[in-house]
Amino acid sequence: MKVLVTGGCGFIGSHLVRRLISQRVNVVNLDKLTYAGNPANVADVARSPRYRFVKGDICDERAVSRAAKNVDGIINLAAETHVDRSILSPGAFVRTDMLGTYVLLEEARRRKVKFFLQVSTDEVYGSVDRGAAREDSPVRPTNPYSASKLGADRLAYSYFATYGLPVVVTRGSNTYGPNQYPEKLIPLTIIRAMLGQPIPVYGDGKNVRDWLHAEDHARAIWTAARKGRPGETYNISGRCPMENIRLVRTILEELDAPASLIQFVRDREGHDRRYAIDDEKIRDELGWRQTEPHAANGVTKTVQWYVARRDWWEPLVRKNEAFNKYFEAQYGSRWKRGTP
Ligand code: NAD
Ligand code: TYD
Repeated sequence: MKVLVTGGCGFIGSHLVRRLISQRVNVVNLDKLTYAGNPANVADVARSPRYRFVKGDICDERAVSRAAKNVDGIINLAAETHVDRSILSPGAFVRTDMLGTYVLLEEARRRKVKFFLQVSTDEVYGSVDRGAAREDSPVRPTNPYSASKLGADRLAYSYFATYGLPVVVTRGSNTYGPNQYPEKLIPLTIIRAMLGQPIPVYGDGKNVRDWLHAEDHARAIWTAARKGRPGETYNISGRCPMENIRLVRTILEELDAPASLIQFVRDREGHDRRYAIDDEKIRDELGWRQTEPHAANGVTKTVQWYVARRDWWEPLVRKNEAFNKYFEAQYGSRWKRGTP
């Protein structure tokens, strides 16, 4: 079996690539190596005879065609993924997340692949005020990231409905664990706490996210690729809902860092209040289960990983001009304007 994984040098993609290689699957990893793509994330499998890396853009038909030669299936994780960046600058999101998915779907159609797994997100449901969204609940994305992801999610479905392409869609919840680029809440908090720097918490800190471990997410994606029914969508929940402020406090306690580092800052525009999804379908139909169902345990291990892997994150943040520029654009005007 040979699988094309896109975005395999990113956070979740790297966990998936490692899992596939360990299961003796041949992997072609097509990745553009944007700021979020890091070859170090897959360094431990890079020498495997079952692994091939292709540097390229999923919007580039020729690169996609080269990478997809003789593959049995495609798993698309390549995307622009950070909501705050999508608010600053939506163009790259529309391009990669929507147009790139179209290019991959066309290639899949031409090659008649045995499966096409589109990695989508629970953010397509928008804020879920009560209960939990099921796969057939209304979709109400509120920012350019989640709207672009929904565009790709439904375009992929349309290739099933129109051309009979065996498409399966997964909608995973907020993911955490080793290798996550330090712009997202958990790694940002850990690293800033380690450096003794203030931690920006948006609004009143009471927004709720459901935390899923990256290894559980990767395993769910592979389960859905192999066993999911074509045309179906599967939610993947962490079953670990937490208010942001509680999560941040947990991390600070874990690091023995003072709570005074917390700084409430101006809220994100259109900030979804609560994400919650029902995962009965993937559990009942495909037998998938979380192995890290207590975010507190997972967070402890994740904190330990970042403590041990300064060599991994330091070059990404310290004296890194691109990161500092982003940080200033994102947070510069936010400090001291929050609602404590
Ligand atoms: P990430 O930002 O860590 O990595 C994205 C990867 O895609 C990087 O390696 C990057 O170089 C690559 N990439 C970006 N644009 C590309 C392009 N045009 N062509 C080829 N490669 C490109 O992302 P992640 O957090 O690992 O997310 C992976 C997927 O999972 C995404 O589709 C995302 O929408 C989805 N998802 C993420 C989460 C989460 O909490 N992180 C939750 C649910 C779903
Ligand atoms: P994030 O990790 O960006 O994921 P997403 O926006 O995809 O849910 O953010 C998680 C939550 O943390 C979200 O409610 C926004 C909040 N947040 C902060 O309070 N401060 C920050 O600096 C960041 C990046 C996020």
